[in-house]
Amino acid sequence: MSKTFDVIIVGGGPAGYVCAIRCGQLGLSTAVVEKEKLGGVCVNVGCIPTKALLHSSHVANLVKKSSKYGVTVGDIQLDFGAAIKNSRQVSEQNSKGVEFLMKKNKVTVIPGTGQIQAGKKVVVGGDVYTANKAVVVATGSSVKGIPAIGLEINKSTVISSDEALFLPEAPASLAVVGAGAVGSEFAEIFNAFGTKVTLIEALPRILPLEDSESSATVGRSFKKRKIDIMQGASVKKADIGANSVTLEVEVNGNTRTVTAEKVLMAAGRKTNTEGLAEAGIQIDERGFVKTDANLQTTSPGVYCIGDVAGPPMLAHKGSREGVFVAEVIAGEKTHPIRYDNIPSVTYCSPEVASIGLSEDACKKQGIEYKVGKFALTANGRARASDETEGFVKIIRDPKYGEILGAHIVASHASEMIHELAVARENEYTVAEVELAVHAHPTLSEAIAEAALDSMDRVLHT
Ligand code: NAI
Repeated sequence: MSKTFDVIIVGGGPAGYVCAIRCGQLGLSTAVVEKEKLGGVCVNVGCIPTKALLHSSHVANLVKKSSKYGVTVGDIQLDFGAAIKNSRQVSEQNSKGVEFLMKKNKVTVIPGTGQIQAGKKVVVGGDVYTANKAVVVATGSSVKGIPAIGLEINKSTVISSDEALFLPEAPASLAVVGAGAVGSEFAEIFNAFGTKVTLIEALPRILPLEDSESSATVGRSFKKRKIDIMQGASVKKADIGANSVTLEVEVNGNTRTVTAEKVLMAAGRKTNTEGLAEAGIQIDERGFVKTDANLQTTSPGVYCIGDVAGPPMLAHKGSREGVFVAEVIAGEKTHPIRYDNIPSVTYCSPEVASIGLSEDACKKQGIEYKVGKFALTANGRARASDETEGFVKIIRDPKYGEILGAHIVASHASEMIHELAVARENEYTVAEVELAVHAHPTLSEAIAEAALDSMDRVLHT
C-alpha cells in the first residue's frame, strides 16, 4: 500500500502528537507513526505515571502524620501494587485522551515502526507513505545502563524507570544511581513506601543542575526521611547476584559498598536515532540529531523535535518544538523558541522548580547579579499547610531589575514557577512582578516578597 500525507510524524510522544495536533489545526493532512502507545514515554512510562505514584507517596507521608491535624486513622497499610495499579489507570486514561485528540484533529495514526527513507518517505511494515511537505522525527529517548562498569539493565535486579513503574511491590532496599530528576523522584516514591533507599550521585550534590541552595534543601529533607545520600560518589563496579546487587562506590577517595535488592538506573537517557543516519540525517557527537534554526535536519524536508533533537529532554520543550515546526511547515509566522526560558521541575517533596540562570551559572559567566530571597517559614499559607520547607529565590540584574533566574523549592513549586516564566518571556522586571497584587494567603506571595527583597523592601521578614 502507498499513501500520501502533507506531514508524516514518526513518534507519538509529547513532541510528535502535539506537532500533529497543530498540523491538523493548520489544515495539513497529517499522519503519526507510533510503535507503542500514543503519548510516548511521558504518558506511558514517564511524567504522568510517576506523578500518580508521587501523589500516592504524598498521601502516604501525609497519613503518617495526620493525627497532628486532628485526623487519626487506623493502622497504615502501604500497598505499592495498588499505587501502581492506580498509576496505570491514570496513564491509560491519558493515552486514550491522546487517541481522542488525534481523531478530533483528523490525524491518521499508523501503528508500527517507521523507517525514514530519502524522498520524504516513511516505510511502516511493508507499506510506503510519502510526505508532500515534511517528515518530522520525534522518536524520543530511552533508558540506559552503564555497561562499562557492569551495570547493564537486566530488568530484574538492575532496573530502569520502565520497570520501576510496574513493580508489584516495593523492594526492601534500592540503590538509585543518579540523582537528577528521575533518581530523586523515585527515591521519594520508594522511601514513602518503606524501601531503604540509597541515592548515589557522581557530582558533588543531588539535583546538580539546580541552584545549590535548592539541592541542599531537598538533601536535608531527604535525610530527615532517612534516604541515604552519597554525593561525589562514582559507582566503579557492580556485582550482580540473583536476588541482590553489590555496588563498589568511590566517595572522596574511599571505597564503600552498597548492597541492595535492586538498583535503579537513573543516570541519563539515550536518544533513539536508529536508522536515521542511513536516511542522510546527521547526528552530533552527543547523539542528538543536527538541526538548523527551523529544526530542519541535514536532510531537506525532514525536521526533528523533542528529546532526540537536543537538550533539555523535557516533555514541554518537545511540545513547544512540535508547535513551532508545524507552523514552519505550514508557512506560518512563528515565535522563536526561547531555550533559555524553559522551566525545569523535579516533583519530589518539596518540589524544585527553576528557570533561567542559577547563582553558580552567573558566577561562572561573570554576570553581575543581586539576589532576593524569601523563606517559606515566613509564609502564612505554607505554615497553615505545614509545608514550610523551601524558599523563593530571584536572581536579578542589579541595574534594571531584569529577572535572570528564579529558583523555587516549595510544595507547589511546579505551579508557582510559571509566574516567573511569563515575567521573563515578557521581560518584566522584579518591580513589575511585585506590583501585581498577590492573593493572601498563598505560596505565591513568597514570589512577590522575593522580588521585594531584591529591592531591599521585603515586608514579612
Ligand atoms: P539527568 O541527566 O538529569 O541526571 C542523571 C544524573 O546521574 C546526573 O546528575 C549525573 O551526574 C548522574 N550520574 C551519571 N553517571 C553516574 C554514575 N556512574 N554514578 C552516579 N551518578 C551518575 O538524567 P535523568 O534524571 O535520568 O533524566 C533523564 C532526562 O529526563 C533528563 O533530561 C531529565 O530532565 C528528564 N526528566 C525530567 C523529569 C521532570 O521534568 N520532572 C522527570 C524525569 C526525567
